[in-house]
Amino acid sequence: MNINGLLAIVTGGASGLGKATATMLAAQGAKVAIFDLNEEAGKAVAAELGGIYVGVNVADDASVAAGLDAAEAAHGVARILVNCAGIAPAVKTVGKENAPHPLDTFAKTVTVNLIGTFNVISKFSARLATAEEIDGERGVIVNTASVAAYDGQIGQAAYSASKGGVVGMTLPIARDLAQHKIRVMTIAPGIFLTPMLEAFPQHVRDALGAQVPHPSRLGKPAEYAQLVESIVRNPMLNGEVIRLDGAIRMTPR
Ligand SMILES: NC(=O)c1ccc[n+]([C@@H]2O[C@H](COP(=O)([O-])OP(=O)(O)OC[C@H]3O[C@@H](n4cnc5c(N)ncnc54)[C@H](O)[C@@H]3O)[C@@H](O)[C@H]2O)c1
Repeated sequence: MNINGLLAIVTGGASGLGKATATMLAAQGAKVAIFDLNEEAGKAVAAELGGIYVGVNVADDASVAAGLDAAEAAHGVARILVNCAGIAPAVKTVGKENAPHPLDTFAKTVTVNLIGTFNVISKFSARLATAEEIDGERGVIVNTASVAAYDGQIGQAAYSASKGGVVGMTLPIARDLAQHKIRVMTIAPGIFLTPMLEAFPQHVRDALGAQVPHPSRLGKPAEYAQLVESIVRNPMLNGEVIRLDGAIRMTPR
């Protein structure tokens, strides 16, 4: 799809990979709506890009419905959805003093990363299903999994389960939405330099970057956004997960 002039929704667009994606989409001429819990950062990014911020909790049914109402009122029906909202707690299955993994942490991770992603996909797609076609398609969805879906590390049981779910639902959702001419793709990033990693000392970042075979460094959020752009533009990309990771295969720790 040609991006210019379309409405795009980016969940988690206040920070990191989502912010880089919102920036790319705005630069390509899209009207961007940022769905995020972080009001201060979300408003700042929206103002910078000439878009709108909508306070949305992706895991909440009514919140997503209201967010889509607000985006549609401002810009019309959205054609592009990029799901970047996510959380990444690190907890072992059996932790200190042999305490079991708190179930609420596991449930919250799956609720935000997996159920939240599906929640936005289904409601976004329902609105788009009857929109006019543009060059033989109606819209594009890009989800964010992680290489942890395949090689999760110690402490990543909940995170890997949630991202494995995103990988697993990519093809069936693409098949469901084919009749509506909406494509669905998922990116599984390796290690990217977002605010989460910027908090680490330089030597820790260097050590993480050195684990990447080539290029031997952390990914740049703009490189994630570049793949989103390719996916949106290329009509044959559908129903697939792309690892974007410089060939890293994560070690157990
Ligand atoms: N940075 C990496 O190395 C990396 C690697 C693999 C996968 N990912 C995935 O990429 C996505 C973006 O990661 P990031 O590094 O940019 O993280 P980030 O923490 O910088 O940004 C995530 C954003 O999501 C928002 N958010 C969290 N929960 C939300 C909710 N319930 N509703 C709405 N918004 C919510 C946060 O407020 C934040 O702005 C995540 O899904 C993450 O799991 C990141």
